[in-house]
Amino acid sequence: MAEVKHIKVTIDNITVEVPQGTTILQAARMIGGDVVPPAMCYYSKLEGSGGKCRTCLVEVAKGSEADPRPMPKLVASCRTGVMDGMEVRNITSDRVKDARNGVVEFLLLNHPLDCPICDQAGECHLQDLGYEHGKEATRYEFKRRTFEKHDLGPYIQLHMTRCILCYRCVYTADQLTEKRVHGVLSRGDHAEIATYIEKSLDNNFIGNVIDVCPVGALTDKTFRFKNRVWFTKPVLAHRECKSCCGKVTLWQRGDQVLRVTARKDQWGEVEEWICNECRFDKKSTSDWTIEGPAQVSRHSVISQGHYEKLVQPKETFTAVHDGRQPQLLMDIHSVSEVNDKTAKTKS
Ligand code: SF4
Ligand code: FES
Repeated sequence: MAEVKHIKVTIDNITVEVPQGTTILQAARMIGGDVVPPAMCYYSKLEGSGGKCRTCLVEVAKGSEADPRPMPKLVASCRTGVMDGMEVRNITSDRVKDARNGVVEFLLLNHPLDCPICDQAGECHLQDLGYEHGKEATRYEFKRRTFEKHDLGPYIQLHMTRCILCYRCVYTADQLTEKRVHGVLSRGDHAEIATYIEKSLDNNFIGNVIDVCPVGALTDKTFRFKNRVWFTKPVLAHRECKSCCGKVTLWQRGDQVLRVTARKDQWGEVEEWICNECRFDKKSTSDWTIEGPAQVSRHSVISQGHYEKLVQPKETFTAVHDGRQPQLLMDIHSVSEVNDKTAKTKS
């Protein structure tokens, strides 16, 4: 097998060696941290994805060692391959920050700000981008684009008003199922995700479109409005499944399994696709072998209220409070006359 040539690329002053053919976005992911551009449409598991949303724009300050001229325009990092000696600016570029603010403003033009009632709230990539790059008020004066909600089969609801036309669900249906029956119909302002003559998406792997959707446009009807995601506890579990890997994350409230999803990596991408049976029909803990709590980034709202790896202090309560007994903290009247009715009567 021919040896893959490695080349050097510098992103935000950090140099990394990557195999030839790597994109700027993949190289940034190899470095990790803040230098990784956000990606609303690119999905490493889906062939051909990327190039639609422009959130991953970066500045190429030096093209390569052989041709050091900078690229005149910002480029989509998910679609641009690295060259040897290339220098890229992401968070160190004011041009990029400015452009990203503009892209987010465009993505939010028609997107409803209904996070308080949206099932995706807390795990929505657009919500995160809105916090980081959004404006406090809209400059849009025209009537917003709205659509009726559609049921796509018995398990999935499409709320097209929230869709950002990233095409991820289209690629998922194309690449995981034998017969895709939905896609983007019309163009420009009229473009919408739709099923051809209202056919339902009933393929056994179609539930994965819910996991790849970066916003709340495709939601799980078995979970809709059941709970907020930050009140649930993600638990890794598996089962013997004839159709898929059977490895999932259960989202539990107490012992109740409210939702089943595929496991996701640090970029929020599905690790292995799961079938509809595992996702929608196995909602009891007895269906699963529980492995333990899922790791959630401590920056995620989902980690609120979860105390993984909690360290219990060795000292007793009394030792921490210089010998005072706990009951003294609850009834201060034995040590203070403040607000003590009996004390007032006495005087
Ligand atoms: S429904 Fe979701 S996954 Fe499909 S194009 Fe719209 S935003 Fe992307
Ligand atoms: S992630 Fe690169 S254009 Fe959308």
